[in-house]
Amino acid sequence: MRKSDGACARIPFRIDRMSEEDLPEVVEIEELSRLSRWGYWGYARELALPERSILLVARPAEAHIPRRVLGFLCSTLVLEEWHIYNLATHPNFRRQGIARALLCHGRALAEARGARCALLEVRASNLPAQRLYEQLGFYVFHRRANYYADPPEDALLMRCDLFPLSAHQEHAP
Ligand SMILES: CC(C)(COP(=O)(O)OP(=O)(O)OC[C@H]1O[C@@H](n2cnc3c(N)ncnc32)[C@H](O)[C@@H]1OP(=O)(O)O)[C@@H](O)C(=O)NCCC(=O)NCCS
Repeated sequence: MRKSDGACARIPFRIDRMSEEDLPEVVEIEELSRLSRWGYWGYARELALPERSILLVARPAEAHIPRRVLGFLCSTLVLEEWHIYNLATHPNFRRQGIARALLCHGRALAEARGARCALLEVRASNLPAQRLYEQLGFYVFHRRANYYADPPEDALLMRCDLFPLSAHQEHAP
């Protein structure tokens, strides 16, 4: 691909909270990434629950890139658990640290809100995502047979221990 296509070109980005204006591009990336379908209204419903959801996007830091969203994270807090539902980077901007940055930012927000562990499910064949999660300290704790459909496949359940702000404070001198 030529650099002018936007593919493979490394671009500066920043992490921001998702807003309703981002949803068309979030849904586009979801479709390009063949994720379980949440669709516009699935994300809109989470946006309406800011007390529990952590919804982030990566945006180009330079105005000349004609996109609002390069990648996104959809997650929610359930008591002391941080549940990661969807994470994807636009295919043209992968392998630039965008998903890692989204996860690290989300993790800091979850810890600040008291989360003690992170949980997610991933297709057994999705090695890129598994490598990413392992890099950030996640490990497989269960395999759920035939969890996914279309195509049918096992799910790996992964978790990661977190360090909520209150725990930092408890250990502070
Ligand atoms: C998985 C996915 C989110 C990674 O996004 P990304 O922005 O390209 O990831 P990053 O650039 O932040 O990669 C961070 C690390 O993840 C691992 N990784 C990412 N893509 C990889 C690949 N294709 N092959 C092997 N490891 C990969 C690497 O360890 C990488 O670190 P490195 O580049 O320093 O080696 C992206 O490939 C994607 O959107 N896939 C489709 C949707 C999906 O599967 N989501 C996860 C659902 S559970």
